[in-house]
Amino acid sequence: MNIDIRRADAIFGTLEIPSDKSIAHRAALISAITDGTSRIVHFPESEDPQSTLSCLRALGTRIEDEDGILVVHGVGRSGMTQAVAPVDCGNSGTTMRLLAGILAGQSFETTLTGDASLSRRPMDRIASPLRLMGATVELTDNRPPITVEGGSLRAIHYPLPVRSAQVKSAVLLAGLFAAGETTVIESTPTRDHTERMLGIPVVDIGGQRHVSVTSKHSLVPQTWTIPRDFSAAAFFLAAASLVPEALIRLPGVGVNPSRSAFLDVLTAMGARIEVSDTRLRSGEPIADLLVRNAQLAAVEVGGEIIPNLIDEIPVLAVAATQAEGTTRIRDASELRVKETDRIAAIAEGLSRMGANIQEHDDGLTIVGPTPLCGATVEAYHDHRIAMALGVAALVADGTTTIVGAEAASVSYPAFWRDLDAVTFAAEPPVSLPNR
Ligand code: S3P
Repeated sequence: MNIDIRRADAIFGTLEIPSDKSIAHRAALISAITDGTSRIVHFPESEDPQSTLSCLRALGTRIEDEDGILVVHGVGRSGMTQAVAPVDCGNSGTTMRLLAGILAGQSFETTLTGDASLSRRPMDRIASPLRLMGATVELTDNRPPITVEGGSLRAIHYPLPVRSAQVKSAVLLAGLFAAGETTVIESTPTRDHTERMLGIPVVDIGGQRHVSVTSKHSLVPQTWTIPRDFSAAAFFLAAASLVPEALIRLPGVGVNPSRSAFLDVLTAMGARIEVSDTRLRSGEPIADLLVRNAQLAAVEVGGEIIPNLIDEIPVLAVAATQAEGTTRIRDASELRVKETDRIAAIAEGLSRMGANIQEHDDGLTIVGPTPLCGATVEAYHDHRIAMALGVAALVADGTTTIVGAEAASVSYPAFWRDLDAVTFAAEPPVSLPNR
């Protein structure tokens, strides 16, 4: 599906951002291996979390929708049943990697498959620690399909070789089935949803986070309420910062400090963002965000902060095209193994629109401000590339055509409708295709 977007003169309104996909995956997975019935309020309609539900159903978990609340009849740690066919994780790396951790604790064999994008993503990062724990894991040339056969697992002490919350989470979930205490050690913090939601101890030893779990850790049925997704809100934080007349309210958005560095970076660039009424929802901090237009200045990001804003870097690059000075983004080579090579994809799209953007192995250099002009750009089947280019189009002359715009549904099915609802121009900025 192609979407045409024109320059916006104004962006105003209040948006109900979709629920957080990272937290939703974890709520469903943890509920499935808990004995008893858990409920999940505001489970997202987006494709990735729905993939997690369909995988869990294929493995024998009964999940129902009761008046919009998801009811998960947990089967306990050993109640899953072997799937009759390979289990399809769709586009969702989080589903595949976290579920592999749970499957390492099941005494049957499961093959996990994915779509073309997921089938290209590296899986040795989870296969290695799960094998160390005693699971049998087969890959094809380091990529999916991945076949996991669990058994009796042993605990490991695992310094994370990649700065990845997905790898950390896979090992911790497997640790729920292992004899002894499994500890994941991270020198650079990654998002901490798994440890928060499991309620397991985290200790700082010499500046490194040690996160530990044992098979004795009790999982209690509960009601999870999923916050709105900070990574989805980020597109509107950037859009409202760039469009000349802007006032956007985003109530109830997750602001977990291990996830929300984009707020600090955009603020350091000069953005005007008010964060109010910070409160807790199912153990996760949420807040109301209010953002206005601002003059942005360039920024340098690299090192420890990168995992904290990894998903926001494509839209940070868009903001940098309109910021005064040279923005440098480094230490972000992980972007090359996301749903697409996000460094190449955003550099290509923004270059086509006239940006001064240079690609590096581990990041980008962007010189701004540069006037952007409408062009035909490719989402490369990547939701965050599609939405980031959609934001760029709001400040570009003429019409931008986003090829493959439907990819947004992976995390934000209503993105183009929401963008249309809040943007204003002499001509309507978004042309939604006829359905
Ligand atoms: C996620 C972790 C990140 C992120 C992804 C979701 C998670 O991946 O990019 O969108 O829910 O744990 P890595 O931890 O592999 O960098």
